[in-house]
Amino acid sequence: MRRLDISATGAFLASLLALAPAPASAFYFPGVAPTSYKKGDAVPLYVNHLTPADSQNDPKLRSVFSFDYYHPPFHFCQPEGGPKYIRESLGSILFGDRIQTSPFELKMAVNETCKALCEPREYAPRDALFVNSRIYQGYDLNWLIDGLPAAQLLKDPNSNTPFYSPGFALGQVDGEYPQLNNHYDIVIDYHEAGPDNYRVVGVLVDPYSYRDSKYIDKGQAECGNEENAVVLDENGNMSVTFTYSVYWRLSPTPFATRWDKYLHVYDPKIHWFSLINSAVIVVFLIGMVSTILVRTLKKDIARYNRLDQLALDDFGPNGNIEDGVQEDSGWKLVHGDVFRPPKNPLFLAVLVGNGAQLFMMAGLTIAFALLGFLSPSNRGALGTVIIIFYTLFGFIGGYVSSRIYKFFHGESWKLCFFYTPFALPGLVFATFFLLNLFVWGRGASGAVPFTTMLIVVIIWFVISVPLSFAGSWVGFRQPVVEAPVRTNQIPRQIPPAGGYLRPFPSMALAGVLPFGAIFVELYFIMNSIWFSKVYYMFGFLFICYGLMIMTSAAVTVLMIYFLLCAENYHWQWRSFCTAGASAFYVFASALLYWMKDVHFLSWTSGVVYLGYSALLSLLFFVLTGTIGFFASWLFVLKIYKSIKVD
Ligand SMILES: *[C@@H]1O[C@H](CO)[C@@H](O)[C@H](O)[C@H]1NC(C)=O
Ligand SMILES: *[C@@H]1O[C@H](CO)[C@@H](O)[C@H](O)[C@H]1NC(C)=O
Repeated sequence: MRRLDISATGAFLASLLALAPAPASAFYFPGVAPTSYKKGDAVPLYVNHLTPADSQNDPKLRSVFSFDYYHPPFHFCQPEGGPKYIRESLGSILFGDRIQTSPFELKMAVNETCKALCEPREYAPRDALFVNSRIYQGYDLNWLIDGLPAAQLLKDPNSNTPFYSPGFALGQVDGEYPQLNNHYDIVIDYHEAGPDNYRVVGVLVDPYSYRDSKYIDKGQAECGNEENAVVLDENGNMSVTFTYSVYWRLSPTPFATRWDKYLHVYDPKIHWFSLINSAVIVVFLIGMVSTILVRTLKKDIARYNRLDQLALDDFGPNGNIEDGVQEDSGWKLVHGDVFRPPKNPLFLAVLVGNGAQLFMMAGLTIAFALLGFLSPSNRGALGTVIIIFYTLFGFIGGYVSSRIYKFFHGESWKLCFFYTPFALPGLVFATFFLLNLFVWGRGASGAVPFTTMLIVVIIWFVISVPLSFAGSWVGFRQPVVEAPVRTNQIPRQIPPAGGYLRPFPSMALAGVLPFGAIFVELYFIMNSIWFSKVYYMFGFLFICYGLMIMTSAAVTVLMIYFLLCAENYHWQWRSFCTAGASAFYVFASALLYWMKDVHFLSWTSGVVYLGYSALLSLLFFVLTGTIGFFASWLFVLKIYKSIKVD
């Protein structure tokens, strides 16, 4: 597929940030260029972390922690000389991958049956307890062969089509006993690209639990059968022999389309349904905004300007009364206050700057993904690109915040320079760090390593902060955005407004619409985050992002128009919070997801889940708030430019 042809550029970008935990090995970018093997060549099998997964009979999330494959209590066989880390990109590590070597010996196109992986492994009661509870929580093993994840063959219940679902079970619960899988049937599809030139195009693993397997000698064993399964004894020591068989199947699938059977869209109808749904909302909203605003505004402006003319002609108040229109209502009245700086202008400017940075990052990342640069065959490319864009757009953040701050007639320049790259990113980093401490404390090895954290901090300080300073400086040197009308000395009284114009009802009302544009995709994104699934429906996401921007802008402009008509000129914070309110719905949906799809067996999982949900909602608040603010800003500048004020 074309995805793979252009993914080399993505790989190049990713390699900019590639790390070097294992200096001996080369950059690791599976799926970028095909690897060719001759018959009998060794094909390495790499092991990744163990992740919580949903089993078919009980699709609930039970934990949020992942474990290193060689976490001691698992007692998995290690390669001679100990496992080694495989080089990965920064994004890959931050998103949880821990790829290491394994003792499996696979030879291209050579079938093998019942090989012992290593000498029998001894499980003490403590370890048995640990492994059993991981089986109850439904953990999956994740292996990689030639960049392809080892998968289970599942059937889509809707369309009855088979597809490959990455990951396979550590064990299964049969009745009330947790059975540990100690035998793996590895089925590898290979494609003949030329004479004695073979490529891996699919990997399936069927795990089994055989208690009666006997270890004979290095690499040799006698496999048991399914009659007796391995149930680890929680009261005494027990030894387990790990075995595997390898079956190579010639496949007509060429290398270029080998990912297709992994990227299965579960239920395309629901995506289309949600798209059409939000498109209808958007059309309706835009229609409403344009009729109300364009027509009413035209009338307003014509009336205001006619009144001006009459007043000038008559030099008296009679002109107004004759006209039969009262001038003392409507948004024109607040022209002397509408550009009065808001409360806490610094805080708002910093938030809007950070929001602009997020906005650019999200938009460009999704566009990149849409072009196929971030296909799942580039492991970790998504995370890496997010980091690169966020870092580079520090410039935009600084520029926007200083221009907005100047527009607000802010005085504390240095604070604005300083807070933009430190306040929100600092908060995000601190939360991330604290949650990570939790994962550490829990003993799960899914925590981001300290060195990776350090690299993130270095990138932040060495690249992002200077870029933000530079942006702030450039923005500061630009001329101030002129308000089209003068601001009065004395602030006007704001008449009390009731109903939906009060802050909370207006936020609750307006926030639900942008949320409506994205909630279906949000559900799939949450699924992919918590169940470590690949997310690849970027086409849908791109359209949803566009619809969300339009809805946020339209609904905020509408709300601000009504607000100004009610002679309330505090539009700045109001516009930010009105659009940002959709973040509360995002958080509420995370809670709902918890109630519906999650059943945690420990409170630490809950803390980590809530922490990350709150963090994502906060970022979403800043992002949508910024969209709302900019839309309203442009709107207010435009309408007050079109009226004549003496
Ligand atoms: C169980 O194994 C541990 C170490 O793996 C050992 O220290 C202990 O003595 C063993 N217990 C029995 C009863 O064999
Ligand atoms: C390996 O085993 C599979 C399944 O039994 C069979 O279809 C295939 O032909 C075998 N391949 C070789 C190279 O013997």
